[in-house]
This record gives sequence, structure tokens and C-alpha cells, in this order.
Amino acid sequence: MSAKNILLVGCGNLGSSMLGQWLKKTDAHFTLLVRTPSLPLLDLIEPYANRIVINPTAAFKADVAVLAVKPQQMDEAIVPLTHGLPPETLVVSVAAGKRISYYEERFSPGQPIVRAIPNMAASIGESMTVCVANKNVKDRHRTMATELFEAIGKLIWHDNDENLTGVTAVSGSGPAFVYLLAILWRKRRKQADWMQRQQRSSRGKPSSAPAQH
Ligand SMILES: NC(=O)c1ccc[n+]([C@@H]2O[C@H](COP(=O)([O-])OP(=O)(O)OC[C@H]3O[C@@H](n4cnc5c(N)ncnc54)[C@H](OP(=O)(O)O)[C@@H]3O)[C@@H](O)[C@H]2O)c1
Repeated sequence: MSAKNILLVGCGNLGSSMLGQWLKKTDAHFTLLVRTPSLPLLDLIEPYANRIVINPTAAFKADVAVLAVKPQQMDEAIVPLTHGLPPETLVVSVAAGKRISYYEERFSPGQPIVRAIPNMAASIGESMTVCVANKNVKDRHRTMATELFEAIGKLIWHDNDENLTGVTAVSGSGPAFVYLLAILWRKRRKQADWMQRQQRSSRGKPSSAPAQH
């Protein structure tokens, strides 16, 4: 992995899933900015304590800053970075719906920025991620982003930020549709089982209607 120092802002569902794979598959060091470290997060990082710093008070180095907070949390979450991040640090956002222009307005004019849409299959290293880069992204930044997302699954580079809306619906939310179908299928299956049981037991019962002789 060419990125040696990775900053991860937000360690919720997706952030933790990606972090788990990166810890297993790379030797990079991580700085995590989190609001309240959850117990599952602390369990996840415990075996890698020598490679992780949480919420440092001193300045930190980062080859890549990965932003993994909810879109509505982004304004607040990037405040500590917009004044402290070196202009050559690659910024990678996985937030749905936040266009590259949003980050260009907030970071340095020359900041390399990648917008990526992975999905929760990252938790088992099977994400399908689609990435778009801004004009400041050089080959070495592209390599860093490629390595990051190949560590959590497969990756496609796209050249049009606008098309990521469709990607978010299909790929980013894809696993959620599968879970939803599985839940609906299980619900229907329960109803079908119940109806079958009802039919079987009603066949076994004597008719409640009086017998005609
Ligand atoms: N989940 C997916 O399948 C998926 C797929 C593609 C893209 N995405 C994108 O990935 C991003 C994260 O999604 P998620 O499902 O992982 O959401 P999530 O579980 O809510 O994780 C967001 C995390 O960011 C933390 N956070 C909020 N404000 C922060 C701040 N100022 N500094 C540091 N941490 C902060 C939250 O902490 P608190 O809980 O304390 O607020 C939470 O742990 C979203 O933008 C989403 O659009 C998600």
C-alpha cells in the first residue's frame, strides 16, 4: 500500500467495515477522528493498537484523508481538516450525494479529491466501488485510491461525477435492497407456513357442521 498514513473521519457502519479490511490487508498507520468510539470499534482495533491513534490533540500526517460521515454531518466533520490538511493530501469521500465541487469549494485549490461509492459488502472484502477523481488527482493519488478500494473489493474508475447518483442507487444501496428482499421473503414464507399449518389442522378436525343422516 503506497499510502502509509491514513486519516479516517467517521467510523460508523461503512467506516468500520473499510477500516477492518485495511487493518487486515495493509501495514498503514491510521488516525481516526470519531465522536464517541463505540465498543465494536474498540474491539476491532484492539489487535492493531500500535498502528492507530484516535482523536489526536497534536498535528498528524496523512497521505489520504477518508471522509465517512453522513452527508448531513460533513460540514461539521471537515472543519478540522480544511485548515490543517496539507494541500497534497488526497481527500477521498464516500458520502452519498456530495459532489466533488462541494469539497473543491472547501479544500485548497490544488487539493486532489476522489469521490467514491463503495457498499457494505466492504465488511467481507466484496465491495463494488465506483470512483471519480478531480483534475488535481495525479497517478500516485489514483494508485493510492485504487489500493484502498481494492483492499475492500473491486473498483471501477468513472470520469463523470454526475453518474455517481445512479451508482449510489444501484451499487451503494444494492446490498440494502438484497437485505430488504430477504426480509420480505422471510415474512411471506412465515405467512405461507402459517396458512399451510392452518389448512393441515383444519383438515384433521371433525367438521363443526352437524352431520346429516
Ligand atoms: N452504509 C452504506 O452502505 C453506504 C454505502 C455507500 C456510501 N455510504 C456513505 O458513507 C457515509 C457513512 O455511512 P454509514 O452508513 O457508515 O453512516 P454511520 O453508520 O452513521 O456512520 C457515520 C459515523 O460518522 C460519525 N460522525 C459524525 N459526525 C462526526 C464528526 N464530526 N467527526 C467524526 N465522526 C463523526 C458518526 O458518529 P455518531 O454516531 O456519534 O454521530 C458515525 O459513527 C455516508 O455519507 C453514506 O452516504 C454508505
